[in-house]
Amino acid sequence: MTKRTLLSIFFCSTFLALWAQTISIATNNTQMVLQVNSQQRLCQTYLGERLSEQTNLEQLYMPLVGLSSSCIQGLEVYPVMGTEDYYEPTFEIRHADGNPTSVLKYVNHTTDGNLTTIHLRDEVYPVEVTLYYKVFPEEDIIQQWTEITHHEKGKVYLGRYASSMLYLEATNYYLTEFTSDWAKEMQIQSQELKFGKKVLDSRLGARANFMAQPFFEVGIGSPVSEDEGTVLMGTLGWTGNFRFTFEVDNQRVLRVISGINHDASTYLLKKDDTFRTADFYFTLSNKGVGEGSRRFQRWMMNHQLHKAKDDRMTLLNNWENTYFDFDEEKLVALFGEAKDLGVDLFLLDDGWFGNKYPRKDDRAGLGDWQVTQSKLPNGIPYLVRKAKENGVAFGIWIEPEMVNPKSELAEKHPEWLIQLPSRDTYYFRHQMVLDLCNPEVQDFVFGVVDNLMQENPEIRFMKWDCNSPITNIYSPYLKENQGNLYVDYVRGLYNVLDRVKEKYPDLYMMMCSGGGGRSDVRGLNYFTEFWCSDNTDPIERIFIQWGYSHFMPAKAMCAHVTEWNRQTSIKFRVDVAFQGKLGFDIGLRNLSDEDRQYCRQAIKEYNRLKDVVWSPEFYRLVSPYEGQHCVVQRVTPDKSHSLVFAYDINPRYSEMLLPARLKGLDAEAKYRVKEICLMPGRQSWLSCNDKVYTGDYLMKVGIKVTSYNKLDSHIIEITKE
Ligand code: DGJ
Repeated sequence: MTKRTLLSIFFCSTFLALWAQTISIATNNTQMVLQVNSQQRLCQTYLGERLSEQTNLEQLYMPLVGLSSSCIQGLEVYPVMGTEDYYEPTFEIRHADGNPTSVLKYVNHTTDGNLTTIHLRDEVYPVEVTLYYKVFPEEDIIQQWTEITHHEKGKVYLGRYASSMLYLEATNYYLTEFTSDWAKEMQIQSQELKFGKKVLDSRLGARANFMAQPFFEVGIGSPVSEDEGTVLMGTLGWTGNFRFTFEVDNQRVLRVISGINHDASTYLLKKDDTFRTADFYFTLSNKGVGEGSRRFQRWMMNHQLHKAKDDRMTLLNNWENTYFDFDEEKLVALFGEAKDLGVDLFLLDDGWFGNKYPRKDDRAGLGDWQVTQSKLPNGIPYLVRKAKENGVAFGIWIEPEMVNPKSELAEKHPEWLIQLPSRDTYYFRHQMVLDLCNPEVQDFVFGVVDNLMQENPEIRFMKWDCNSPITNIYSPYLKENQGNLYVDYVRGLYNVLDRVKEKYPDLYMMMCSGGGGRSDVRGLNYFTEFWCSDNTDPIERIFIQWGYSHFMPAKAMCAHVTEWNRQTSIKFRVDVAFQGKLGFDIGLRNLSDEDRQYCRQAIKEYNRLKDVVWSPEFYRLVSPYEGQHCVVQRVTPDKSHSLVFAYDINPRYSEMLLPARLKGLDAEAKYRVKEICLMPGRQSWLSCNDKVYTGDYLMKVGIKVTSYNKLDSHIIEITKE
């Protein structure tokens, strides 16, 4: 055999080996199949219910994409701008010579336990792209991210750098989005996706989820429903600008691209550096969004939420009670109230710092993290001690990424502020954002936490606020590379949070952003909980908590009892907050003895039932979006204990009231049904109270827990006998 024949045999067999490559990525119930096509391009051939082991994955069909002469075979997993696929791409790169595209070819892949790594390469330019797929088999969640590297000498810019592209095929698609605003977080809205594109995104930098939350659901073939149908649910782990693009192409294929928002973020990537995209997480449930939500809640509790297995502290916050108007005496009196109430912790909110410009309102002092001497002459150590004497732990509010122009910090370090040169500055809440791209600023922000902790090692909790989006978008540190700002800001933030987590692993932290302006799952890898909304009107909270429950576990969702909507009883307000991580932000002295007694009793019950309240086994039984009632249920994983929360909002005259059919119980077992958290001296009038039923009865017949009473609520404990 000649050398030439040998070589051609070698190339042919290599080519055939590459062509035959089939990669399966599977959880217990979902499977994604990728194949290398005849042009060495990596394509998706399947995404759906897990296939049997006997299925020949090579038989999966690869359509042709693109215009006839240059079409590629299959739906490319990471399509690049400028190649044969004319739809929205996942990746866009401008090489040092100005060439605006790359063709990514399969090189090899490895599977190591639950992680599949696939290497792609441009054969003409020194550019490598690595795709990662991590599966969480039990929770049926797939995590995807990408790494991009180049070795070119000149300047290389990334125009797009998505984390994932998913293709789905059905006759119809229905998108559910979670819109947002201050005091209107997680409002659910649905629409059918027709030909063309729908984009959900954020371009606010910090406080990124102020106007749109980073979650979506797509009903595949039928509108999203609670217990039936196939639904794709996804979220991006990125505490900054996100973008989800849903494009129905001319073959009716739905293309879902998820990643960091590339708008105004053309990124200059240095030679040999690696750009890691954000993490995209998705589940494909064929039992509706109810099952999808439980998967996400389980995954958060098992893998993602910081300190998920540790306890959480009930608390009394002073924000709505005092706002900026407090002194030592007032605070110490509030410690007494916290003790009397029976909560674990007192949380001191905004307004404790600044001397040259004391923080007496939101116009000054932000950035000057020294205690206001005139207000708190004995400093934070005195407050920590006094709280301890009252038997409560101490927590404190910070907003370390931000600064008022009226502050010593802004005067001393104007070069640390994100602001446009030679333009009038736009102030959001009278403040500006610090340039976290700058390592010196990162040190400063870390120092805010570190200094407080060094001086007060007994601080147990911090509420980390972030009230402004990034305005006046120009980083003095990045100079001509302004396209890197939005991405490097978030990386700077993670750098700080990594250091905080490492040095203070026992510190509990609330992620807060002018209400629920930060709510992403990556943030919750650093924070133990998040503030869902400044809107604590319990009626509105029913909707907001219903929205977050699609992805978030109760343990992470801070829910406080306040004075919003005084038309509702204290019981109604507490019963709504009881569903999440319970806290109070209310002047207790204004409450009647009976109301105070109710709160004390409710906290005791909450402490007794934490394991049930925080179980990820969650069922939405009656939707507030469909009438004047809301009923939800939690069950412990062993099905021995359950809680039902029932709320009547504004029932219509003589409307039909159906029993709530419970879910997730053991059909064979017997359960005692008992209404708990009754106002002092009241008896339950629920017909099911104190009766024993089989799980089968409770799930098929149900119990009457709603009524014609306006603003009534019930918490019902279901215990296996
Ligand atoms: C916005 C937060 O959402 C509130 O709870 C409170 O902490 C204020 N900021 C303080 O300025």
